Order: sequence, then C-alpha cells, then structure tokens
Amino acid sequence: MSEEIGVTGLATMGANLARNLARHGCRVVVHNRTRARTDALLAAHGDEGEFVATGSVQEFVAALQRPRRVIVMVQAGASTDAVVQELMALLDEGDVLVDGGNARYTDTIRRTAALAEKGVHFVGSGISGGEEGALLGPSIMPGGSAEAYRLIGPLLESIAAVVDGTPCCTHVGGDGAGHFVKMVHNGIEYADMQLIAEAYDLLRTRLGMSPTEIGEVFAGWNEGDLDSYLIEITAEVLRHVDGDTGRPFVDVVLDQAEQKGTGRWTVQSALDLGVPVSGIAEAVFARALSGHAEQRAPAREVLPGPSSAPEPVADRDGFVEAVRQALYASKVVAYAQGFDQITAGAQAHGWDVDRAALATIWRGGCIIRARFLDRIRQAYTDEPDLATLLVHPYFRDAVAECQEGWRTVVVEAARAGIPAPGFASALAYYDGLRAERLPAALIQGLRDLFGAHTYRRVDREGAFHTLWSEDRREVPAG
Ligand code: 6PG
Repeated sequence: MSEEIGVTGLATMGANLARNLARHGCRVVVHNRTRARTDALLAAHGDEGEFVATGSVQEFVAALQRPRRVIVMVQAGASTDAVVQELMALLDEGDVLVDGGNARYTDTIRRTAALAEKGVHFVGSGISGGEEGALLGPSIMPGGSAEAYRLIGPLLESIAAVVDGTPCCTHVGGDGAGHFVKMVHNGIEYADMQLIAEAYDLLRTRLGMSPTEIGEVFAGWNEGDLDSYLIEITAEVLRHVDGDTGRPFVDVVLDQAEQKGTGRWTVQSALDLGVPVSGIAEAVFARALSGHAEQRAPAREVLPGPSSAPEPVADRDGFVEAVRQALYASKVVAYAQGFDQITAGAQAHGWDVDRAALATIWRGGCIIRARFLDRIRQAYTDEPDLATLLVHPYFRDAVAECQEGWRTVVVEAARAGIPAPGFASALAYYDGLRAERLPAALIQGLRDLFGAHTYRRVDREGAFHTLWSEDRREVPAG
C-alpha cells in the first residue's frame, strides 16, 4: 500500500514535516487555514514528492482514505483546540489524529479522551529538532494507544532521525506520555543551555577570553564526552560576528532570554510530582531574572559585589578544564533529574515509559541529542529500575572525576561574583543526595514545635509529637 497522510498547519515545522514525508515516498495531502501557504509550499517544493493541495478542511479530510491519518502542526493551546474540534466533526471511527505541536500534556490527556468517545485515535506526539530536524529527521515521541501506534508508528519511524540503524521514534506510552516527555526534554534543554551559558560567562569574565576563543574551546569540548548538538552550535554562535557592527554577535544580542513555556510547565509539573528538578528550575528562573530589566537596572547601580577584585587566574588551562568538568557534572545532574521526573510522571499517570528506549530516541534528531545519551541508554538497559542515573557506575565515576573542578568553579564563581546558579544548584543537589544526614531533621523539629506536624524517629516506627509548650514529653501522634 502506498503510504498516505494529511498534514494541516503549514508554518515552517508543518511544511518541513510534510516535505520530509513526501521525500520518503508518502502521498501527502496538505492544508493550511490560509491557502497561500499551501500554494507557496507546492510552488517551492512540489517536485520533492507527491503533494495534494486542498483548500477547505472538508476537502482536506475528503481527500484522505480511511483509516485517515492526519498530523496537526499548529500552535499549542487554543489554535490546536480549534483545529482538533473542526477535524473531530469530520473524522470517522478508526482514524488517527496526531498533534505534533508542543502541547501541554494535560491538554493531550483531555483531547485523547474526547476523541476516543468518537473512536478516533489521538496521538499527542513530541517532535524535536527544530525546523531542520522536521525536514531531515526529527526525534519523535508519540503517545496514545498501542493501536494508534500500530497505525501511525511505522510512518513516523520512516521520517525520524536514525542512529546506529535505529529510528529516533518510539511509542512512549498512553495518552499524554508523548507530550509529557517532550516537555521534560525541553526542560532539560533549558538546563543544558543555562549551564553552557554559565561556562561561557566564567571563561569570558574570569579569564577575559573573547567569544571566538571560547567558541574554539567549545569546539574542542565537542570532540570529547560533551559531544552534543548544543555544544556544537554554541561554538557556531560564539564564533559568529555581527554583520552591521563587526562585533561578536553575542555582544549585540539583548541579554534577556525569552521562553514559550515548556520549561515552566516542566517545573510546575515537577512541583506537583515532588521531584527536585533544581537544574531545570534554576534555568527557568535565570531566564526570568534576565528578563527583569526594571530590577536589574537599579540593582546594578547600588548592589556591591566582592570587596576586592579577584586575583587573576594563574592556571588558565586548569581553569578551562575545571569549567568543562563543572559543565559535564552539572549536565549529568540535569539529565538525571529529568529522567526522575519522567519516572514519577509515568507512575502518576500509569504510563509504561521505557527510559532506555527514550534515551535511545534522544540520541539523534532532537535538540538535546548528545553522545552521552548512549551511556544513559546503557545505564537503564543494565538496570531498568535504577534509582537515579547518578548511582550507575559509569556516571558515578564520571561525575566523581569531575568533582574537584566542579567545586573549584562554584567557589570561584561565588568569590568573583559571577552568577552560576546552574553549577551551584547541581552541586548542592549532588551533595544533598550523598549526605549521610540532612538538616531536614531540624525542619521536622520546627514543624512539630510550631504546628504539631509530628515527626518520625530514626530508632522507632511510628509518628510522634513533643509537647513543646507543656513538659516536653514525647507522645505518639494522633
Ligand atoms: C525542539 C525545541 C522546540 C523549541 C522550544 C523553544 O525540541 O525542537 O525544544 O520545541 O525550539 O520549544 O522553547 P523556548 O522558546 O521556550 O526556549
């Protein structure tokens, strides 16, 4: 059977996905709310494969054979709801509707249930890799039922990136699972970029290196354990020179990081799940801080930094290596926390998410693709019930090797007054995890004193309360 699919929403991501499908021999029926985009796609790329242009949604749906397969590539939120609503009225039992946008996973759960009432399979699918990925091979994270995956999975696998012969697409889990893991993917993306930015800042501010020189350092790092798409493009951005001014590009860009929301959603979900994704949270907050120009301006005027300028760094190469170690170790922490959130989300929602399979499909196509995802895949293959990536022998040893540099960098940053919230919080998390005793015991004591919130003891089962305002006898709780 010749494969056939409909794609509606032909902005860059949708158009590139449609082209990718057509290039793989698929008959692609295309539709866009405004017809001009459809015509533009066909005019520019119609010769890349078999496209069928349609005008109205009715025409679009009628041009597809049953069971129809449709990919929606429109803005998350109200636009997706409007398109899904419109299609729902026209689709039939057994058809498959894929939402490839960055939808909020709770919306996907809701839409899956609504379409299931009509017998239409809804597949909320994370698609990562940006515009180029959509065209040349993204990482695809479809959720939904096993039956839906049977109908759409092979087609999605055929257009995904391929690493070691394996397509970067797998059935992630039921209803919202695909968009949940894409959300966490983006959270990790935020953390990764924040850490990269801190590494850049430390090399620039502490060593006085130029962006081009730092670009060379990143290019070198990309040859080793840090080998990843984000490190690679960091080198590219840092070496770029502004055409107008001849200044380093990074110096003419306003230092206020924007966000569309997936990082924030990740942290909101993590708070609900009780998973400490501190690296992702710091990254979201660092972007928020950068955007508060109205606070930064007066603060810059009056808040003092360290009383004396720090001594120049004597061992420059050693410092560069320490920054590399801080970056690597903090990055492992961020990924470990992201995978913890996926574990908790899967448990909470009853999804059977295979973490090794997820690491496998993140090895190519997506923004966080990195050589060390192969190690993560291996770790979860060795130990499917691994408590945290940090205790797997490979990562335990790799992080331990970075520990001295990591600590040096956090101390240096604090001494020099350079903000490094990602590095510092990752180290605090690491130390928190490995601590023999945490001061949480004192928090429990305080809670019991002011609110009779009770505590458990190290030496006896049960919950207890101390009669703080009486004779300080301990009594069983309740
Ligand atoms: C991807 C990216 C993509 C998008 C981010 C940007 O995986 O291809 O994550 O989804 O570029 O959502 O997010 P912000 O605008 O919030 O940085």
